[in-house]
Amino acid sequence: LNRTPLIAGNWKLNLDHLQAIAFVQKLAWSLDDAKHDFAGVEVAVFPPFTDLRSVQTLVASDKLPIAFGAQDLSAHDSGAYTGEISGAFLAKLECSYVIIGHSERRTLHNETDEVVAAKVQAALRHSLVPIICVGETAEDLETHGPSAVPVAQLRAALAGVTSAADIVVAYEPVWAIGSGQAATPDQAEQVAAALRAVLVELLGDDVAAKTRILYGGSVKAANIAGFMREPNVDGALVGGASLDLDEFASIARFKQ
Ligand code: G3H
Repeated sequence: LNRTPLIAGNWKLNLDHLQAIAFVQKLAWSLDDAKHDFAGVEVAVFPPFTDLRSVQTLVASDKLPIAFGAQDLSAHDSGAYTGEISGAFLAKLECSYVIIGHSERRTLHNETDEVVAAKVQAALRHSLVPIICVGETAEDLETHGPSAVPVAQLRAALAGVTSAADIVVAYEPVWAIGSGQAATPDQAEQVAAALRAVLVELLGDDVAAKTRILYGGSVKAANIAGFMREPNVDGALVGGASLDLDEFASIARFKQ
């Protein structure tokens, strides 16, 4: 298997554009000082929309080996959609990725599986790699077991996706997000394996073999190595710990 691990920091509603520039510059220095193997472990940050232009300018001018993307996008490309941001705009800002269907979007902004699928299509139209988030609540876990809801969410998100698509999947149990109570590596692996089976079924062996599946939910420097040892876990989507420079840099250097 040859999947480059991805360590992605979802800043959520934190860090303005000035803080973002300082953070990304220091992160690059810190990883560089630690001789981070950038080709071996990809590092990406997901700032608020208003930071993206500043991050793009910094990354381009200093040729920083740090990827970036947005936390959401509109399902529409343009038109009368007040407050929305289109995939076309994100692509022009050289975003590589866009997070779609984060549980906070699903819960706080009523994003349904249909909306998530439309946003995945919007990302792909503009050659952005969607990071498709799926995950069960504590109640789902109790009622349906660990994999049923994430598997159903992934199936729905992939409606209309062809086998040529470049995607990333993030498994984030809702009960583990921001709770300090991460899933165990075993639990993450069990669901990641079920999600990979869906990729095999819907997109074929080749795409399934190259698609990265991340784990997210209370990831920190102290627990990342356990997740990365699992065969179907190819990285992490990090929330709270991505705002602490030293902690995030340590997570990215999970191999050392
Ligand atoms: O997108 C990131 C997740 O929601 C995880 O957040 O690391 O603060 O638990 P957390």
